[in-house]
Order: sequence, then structure tokens, then C-alpha cells
Amino acid sequence: MPKITWLGHACFLIEDEIRIIIDPWIRGNPQCPIGLEEVPKLEHILVTHDHGDHLGDAIDLAKRDDAKIIAIYDLAEYVRGQGVKNAVGANIGGWMDVDGIKYKLTPALHSCKHGVPVGFLIRLRDGKVIYHAGDTGFTNEFEVIGRLNRIDVAMLPIGGHFTMDIREAVIATQVLNPRVVVPMHYGTFPQIKANPEEFKKALRWIKPEVEVRVLKPGESFTI
Ligand code: NI
Ligand code: MN
Repeated sequence: MPKITWLGHACFLIEDEIRIIIDPWIRGNPQCPIGLEEVPKLEHILVTHDHGDHLGDAIDLAKRDDAKIIAIYDLAEYVRGQGVKNAVGANIGGWMDVDGIKYKLTPALHSCKHGVPVGFLIRLRDGKVIYHAGDTGFTNEFEVIGRLNRIDVAMLPIGGHFTMDIREAVIATQVLNPRVVVPMHYGTFPQIKANPEEFKKALRWIKPEVEVRVLKPGESFTI
């Protein structure tokens, strides 16, 4: 069964037959409970955008493991220029296949230097669908993403200031309609202080069928 571990902030490790990490900010991430050398050998590294708290250690990890960085085209070009051999540039659209895993880049309402910020839909080999929203404000795209995809696990930012806050993330969950939602991108800096229990409580009233998983950094669950 695929195992998902939160490494703090927006970083998640998905361990299946292939190991995937999303937004690997390890060094300097105050929430990350492990060092770079404790990150297992990776096959795929997904980067939602080039802000330091997301691009993080992606380049070093890609070089260490000969892993593929999957990102928006312009960011893939940038990491290739930094010496990453296997960069898969893509764009917002339909499913693509990388080593038997299906990925879809989704719009995110945010900023960045290279290309545009994105979220990722990930369809694992067993058909389970994971959605990592990246850094984003509330956008009507959520409704379309929810209609087009049966999402098993959604990872949504709740910290505010740079992204959605709790209220917006509650509405996003309502329209995305995932089986499980995991709050992220909160508590790392003073500006994004948020209580995930408030998120959980609000959803219990508004959308009780969605399971809210509040993880501690380093905590895992299987799907
Ligand atoms: Ni950002
Ligand atoms: Mn961020």
C-alpha cells in the first residue's frame, strides 16, 4: 500500500514501487524532522514552483539519486541549466506518463520566477489519485479539478498570508470532494500560524464525509 509521509511545510514523500517526493525543502525547513541523508533514494521529484520553500533541495537530491525532476517547462529548463540530467518539463493540461505514474499539472493562483506555479495530480499504479495543490489562493479551478478527478488524498495549504487560509481551504475541500484531506503550509513561519484543529472542526460541520488527517512532521499514513 502506498505510504505518504509529511516532512513539514509543503513536503510529502510518497513511497510506492517508485519513491516520489513533492517540494523537498529539507535543509533549513524548521518543521522537517530528518536530514538530507535520511531521505530515501528517490525516483521522482515534483516541484510546484521555484520559491525556496518548495524548490528546496530538489536539485541536490536529483543529482544524488539520478532522479527525475518533474516541473513546469520553464522550471525544468532552469534545473537542467543547474546540472540536473533528468528534468521532465511539462505544462498544465492532461495526464502524462512518467515510468508508469500518471501526472497532471494543475493551475495554482500564486507567483514565481520560472514559468507559472502549479499543483500536481498524481495517479499511482494502483489507480489512487493524490492532489497536491502547491501554493495557491482560492481559485474556481478547484471545482473543475474536483469534477474531473476522483481524488483520494488532497494536500491543501491552510496557513494564509501566502496561500489560502483555513476558511478558504474548507471551501476548497468542499468543491474538490476528496476522500481524505491533509492540511499543509502552516506553522512554519510566524505569518502562517494556523490551528489545523479549526480546519478539522469546520469540515466536520460542512463536509463530514471527508476524513481530515492532521499529521505531525514525520508522520505517515497508508492509502
Ligand atoms: Ni510560494
Ligand atoms: Mn510556499
